Amino acid sequence: MHDFTFKKEELYCEDVPVSRIVEACGTPAYIYSHSTILSHFKKIEAAFKPVNPLICFSMKANSSLAVCRLLAKAGSGFDIVSGGELYRALKVKVSPKKIVYASVGKTPEEIKEAIRAGILCFNVESIPELETIEAVARKVKKRARIALRLNPDVDAHTHRFITTGTKENKFGMGPEDVFQTFLHAGDYPHLDFVGIHLHIGSQILETGPYVQAIECALQVVERIKAAKIPRLTVEYLNIGGGFGIIYKDEEAQTADDFARAVIPLLASSGLKIILEPGRFIVGNAGIMVTRVLYVKKAATKTFVIVDAGMNDLIRPALYGAYHEILPLKQRSASSTAMDAVMVADIVGPVCESGDFLAKDRRLPRVEAGEYLAVMGAGAYGFVMASNYNSRLKPCEVMVFKGRYAVVRKRERYQELIKNEVIPSKLQ
Ligand code: LLP
Repeated sequence: MHDFTFKKEELYCEDVPVSRIVEACGTPAYIYSHSTILSHFKKIEAAFKPVNPLICFSMKANSSLAVCRLLAKAGSGFDIVSGGELYRALKVKVSPKKIVYASVGKTPEEIKEAIRAGILCFNVESIPELETIEAVARKVKKRARIALRLNPDVDAHTHRFITTGTKENKFGMGPEDVFQTFLHAGDYPHLDFVGIHLHIGSQILETGPYVQAIECALQVVERIKAAKIPRLTVEYLNIGGGFGIIYKDEEAQTADDFARAVIPLLASSGLKIILEPGRFIVGNAGIMVTRVLYVKKAATKTFVIVDAGMNDLIRPALYGAYHEILPLKQRSASSTAMDAVMVADIVGPVCESGDFLAKDRRLPRVEAGEYLAVMGAGAYGFVMASNYNSRLKPCEVMVFKGRYAVVRKRERYQELIKNEVIPSKLQ
């Protein structure tokens, strides 16, 4: 559910007509609904209440300071993957004790920053990484808490680019390696081994893979307990993120469905539970609005050329992802005849044939100057935008209690080149 609805044939975000926002702010523009983000967060909180988890919003899905601040205020922690995300998390004033840090490629510098900040724990993906964290902790004379990321070899049945929990993936360590590493915890005097981390993929539509992965993790925890390793208690089980949402006609599970499937396992483990949802919280809480520049009738196809390209929203080009696309103004009932409908590729201005938002899409006949809303763009939308073709990054807007605020200004040409230098010999 989300707060983008048609009222009197016009798309609204909460109580604000979307056209009013884009007429003032221009396009392309990302627009987020404050109430939708909050309600999705609360849905997960309520569903998992029996195990009272720490919910660490996965900032990679949407790292807008406004979005993160609203979640921090609601009590969320953060799952981060870089020094830049740590910087953002600290900017929104979340307690460092609610930050967990994953990534297969943390640099010593990033590790140092995170240890100094006092984060809750590193989700460690390999032994060389563990050795680096130990060396950095020794150098800065601090201790670091770590969880080992378990790769349970479970297929999450999602797009192959966003499956992360099978043997073929670069993430985590197999169950035997995790167990053996725990046995050798004493080799790392500056590290506290406090947990196991899982994250098996994204846009997961079934509960089965979670159950399998958690069962695998709990078997490892049992082995660790039985080994009675001195000064070591497994405190946390982090089950990652990945809850899928509806983009088109997916049979997505609700937060309650996911919770019901795994809570019996989690509750009986006695472990503190961490969740890392990203898409579930923000995916359907954001749209990207674009303007039709031209309608081009070519030999075999019609192209609706819009002012947003793959650099603004790369999901269709990268994963063949489906996003619903709707004109901001709906047609009246009398104009729903066949000639009011068209089938077209909706494409951007970028110089690549992969630059499309939709292929062979049936939509109401649109004309130059009209606005289109690309739905479900709140997760992995703006965060994956680039400056390819020297295009300016779009603005971001948040609607909140009947008002809207620009939460990131549209980029300007000066900003495009601000870090560039022409060497003096070329002047
Ligand atoms: N935790 C870890 C360690 C992750 O790597 C991810 C996402 C999450 C949590 C959050 O997953 P979510 O709840 O959002 O599914 N760009 C792709 C998705 C990449 C997901 C990467 N990892 C897309 O647009 O579909």
